Amino acid sequence: MAKITYIEFNGTRHEVEVANGLTVMEGARDNAIPGIEADCGGACACSTCHVYVDPTWVEKLPPRDDMEEDMLDFAYEPDPARSRLTCQLKVTDALDGLIVQMPEKQI
Ligand code: FES
Repeated sequence: MAKITYIEFNGTRHEVEVANGLTVMEGARDNAIPGIEADCGGACACSTCHVYVDPTWVEKLPPRDDMEEDMLDFAYEPDPARSRLTCQLKVTDALDGLIVQMPEKQI
């Protein structure tokens, strides 16, 4: 279980508990948090689950694989340092306290 803070582009914060084994995308979807659309359902095929990871968390997350890297090219204004696809981030206890910010829009 991890407490994850999702911050909408307008600054609205959502702090929710997300069970281990879900993805950060599923945590947003299951709690009806706006700003993460996840059109492909988590298949790493749409880039509409894009977020900017808080700078303090960038180094603590597992690195992007090639598929995520490629798909981020299609995201809206990706940041090479902070952008991640939330469907590719599995929740574990290690993610407790994670903070992510949604972009202005998804594509
Ligand atoms: S939900 Fe489509 S790429 Fe993440």
